[in-house]
Amino acid sequence: MSSPFRIAVLASGTGSNLQAILDTVHGRDGIEVVGVGSNVADARALERARTAGVPTAAFPLAGHADRAARDAALADWIERQGAELVVLAGYMQLLTPAFLARFPQRVVNVHPALLPAFPGLRAVEQALEHGVRVFGVTVHYVDEGVDTGPIILQRAVELPQARDADEVFGHIHAIEHELLPEAIRLIARGAVRLDPADPRRTLLGP
Ligand code: GRF
Repeated sequence: MSSPFRIAVLASGTGSNLQAILDTVHGRDGIEVVGVGSNVADARALERARTAGVPTAAFPLAGHADRAARDAALADWIERQGAELVVLAGYMQLLTPAFLARFPQRVVNVHPALLPAFPGLRAVEQALEHGVRVFGVTVHYVDEGVDTGPIILQRAVELPQARDADEVFGHIHAIEHELLPEAIRLIARGAVRLDPADPRRTLLGP
């Protein structure tokens, strides 16, 4: 049997996306979550990981000299866990360029909007304030910008009457919980690569 595809997940908050990964990806299709890290020591996400028997570690900024030192410690831990892919599932910190350089094309993020519309914080609220009728989710590779990396998967949902962020989040989370696991499965089986003719794009399949 070939060795599993090992992923680390970083999460700062509730961890519902982490839970979807633990429930639908971990221990299946040759994929294993080998660690869950957070910048928040008491994040609910870490509790979810412990319940699933997955190793956890917290890297609060206050415990380190600066972001560079924190991200170096985080990267060391991810490497020790043997992760081949780093999944940001509600990780609310920017990663330093030095961190990203250690995992080239190996960090993915889920964002609650159809990028390049509404990058950054409060994406659903931004979309509502803009009066959009179509919302959605993007899974993308992480580069040094804010939600600017090559797009892997997107899914839209038409909510022409939406006025309330909680209502939109209900739809968005349901999509995220399918799309992020789907992207991880594609990457694990080598079905996502950068287009050599245009590294801004990804090619999917076979
Ligand atoms: C998700 O909406 C994700 O798109 C954003 O942060 C949120 C995390 O939610 N990046 P959860 O902690 O997975 O429930």
